[in-house]
Amino acid sequence: MNDNKKKGLLIVFEGTDGTGKSTQLQLLYKVLRDKGYPVVATREPTDGKYGREIRQLYINREKYSHEEELELFLKDRREHVDELLNPALRRGKIILCDRYFLSTAAYQGAIGFDPETVLTLNSFAPEPDLALLFQTPVDIGVTRIISGRGDTLNDFEQTENLKKVAEIFSGIDRPYIKKIDATGSIESVHQTVMGHIATLFASSSFLPLVPYS
Ligand code: TYD
Repeated sequence: MNDNKKKGLLIVFEGTDGTGKSTQLQLLYKVLRDKGYPVVATREPTDGKYGREIRQLYINREKYSHEEELELFLKDRREHVDELLNPALRRGKIILCDRYFLSTAAYQGAIGFDPETVLTLNSFAPEPDLALLFQTPVDIGVTRIISGRGDTLNDFEQTENLKKVAEIFSGIDRPYIKKIDATGSIESVHQTVMGHIATLFASSSFLPLVPYS
């Protein structure tokens, strides 16, 4: 068999900050792991060298030009794709990824790049089998960040910016995107997520049928 043939599934969690996507990713991860699926959780920005530089960028966004900012996210993704995503897909893993290239289209789109051009620049990255797009009114997300996380807003999270980001996310049309109303309770949103996962698994011939050991 061709070793490059993709056997796993790539499920990405997208949305503006404070929509609860990371909480939902963890819930799904536990369900799949407990059922014996070969699941891997990962995130972007990564914890690699470019991801760490990006975390500096949150604090000092004005130190970087827009082009440098975009370039850093692309370098981080390239490393993630080569070192983790593609190998794991080839080994038949189900990958849950917190943010992926739709975030680049939306966030770097909000600073002026054309979202479709940004998507084209990401053509080296495997397309997700499913992108769950978590949506709440931006004000709710901001309230969750401030009260829930006990945090202040970083440069990427300023309300006006997030409104633009949300609008771009919402306008991207790809068959693998499923929009999720994330204003409900954690449990009700989790049930919605499980519905999409069940549909994906039912239509996937790639899903390993035996529990992974
Ligand atoms: P986030 O998921 O909030 O990471 P963490 O919880 O580790 O801080 O992502 C950090 C920020 O990075 C978020 O505000 C969105 C932004 N971002 C981009 O601007 N472009 C991208 O391509 C990605 C992946 C994230």
